[in-house]
Amino acid sequence: MNQKRVVFALKILLWLGSLAPAAYLVSGIFTGSLGVNPVEKLTRWTGMTALILLFVSLAVTPVRRLSGWNPIIRLRRPLGLFAFFYASAHFTIWFAFDMVFDLTYMGADILERRFITVGMAALVVMLPLALTSTRWSIRRLGKKWTVLHRGAYLAGVLGVVHYFWLVKADTRLPWLFAVILTGLLVFRLPQLQRRKRDPRRETPREQDATPQAG
Ligand code: HEM
Repeated sequence: MNQKRVVFALKILLWLGSLAPAAYLVSGIFTGSLGVNPVEKLTRWTGMTALILLFVSLAVTPVRRLSGWNPIIRLRRPLGLFAFFYASAHFTIWFAFDMVFDLTYMGADILERRFITVGMAALVVMLPLALTSTRWSIRRLGKKWTVLHRGAYLAGVLGVVHYFWLVKADTRLPWLFAVILTGLLVFRLPQLQRRKRDPRRETPREQDATPQAG
């Protein structure tokens, strides 16, 4: 198989895998099979899927570096956008069912519960990344685009803190995410420092169009 076909096959797998949780949840709504607390299930599944996809998108660059297989970078943008899609659905479900579309109630919850505050911050960080994930934005923003898209790591950190603060007893999964994120950051740090010393390396390429730094 040539490279284009491999990328195409991987993209089909990515779309199927990313849409599978949504398909499961939507079919569960119609068949009434989401259990005794469907809203909780919808909230948890969308939150978890958003975090997993964000992490997979962050892992693309290390995998590219380690494998030397550059075309894999083309998976990063759809992964980041799917992560944003689930984070938005996660927020919408909370706003519709828990906050009953009441902005005052929503503001109070953001101020009162710290895990909601950081969750909201994570979504706010992800929003400009999703909006500037186009080739046009890369051309317009140039080096600023690369710096902006490092925000994906910040979104990861906020997502993990959100998770830590919401779980009541068993922190094993948040710890797993924290360890993976630390690994991803440790992998990227030397490269980011090199870029700081040599700013010419900052300029992004159009194929980097993705909601995170290249
Ligand atoms: C927009 C602001 C957000 C709000 C209001 C919010 C709210 C919530 C709520 C109410 C829960 C369920 C808590 C519980 O069951 O006790 C939850 C769980 C979760 N959220 Fe968020 N969240 C937000 C953003 C995010 C973002 C951006 C991510 C990921 C990047 C995320 C990832 C998670 C995860 C992983 C869980 C736990 C899922 C599980 O228990 O299996 N959340 N969130």
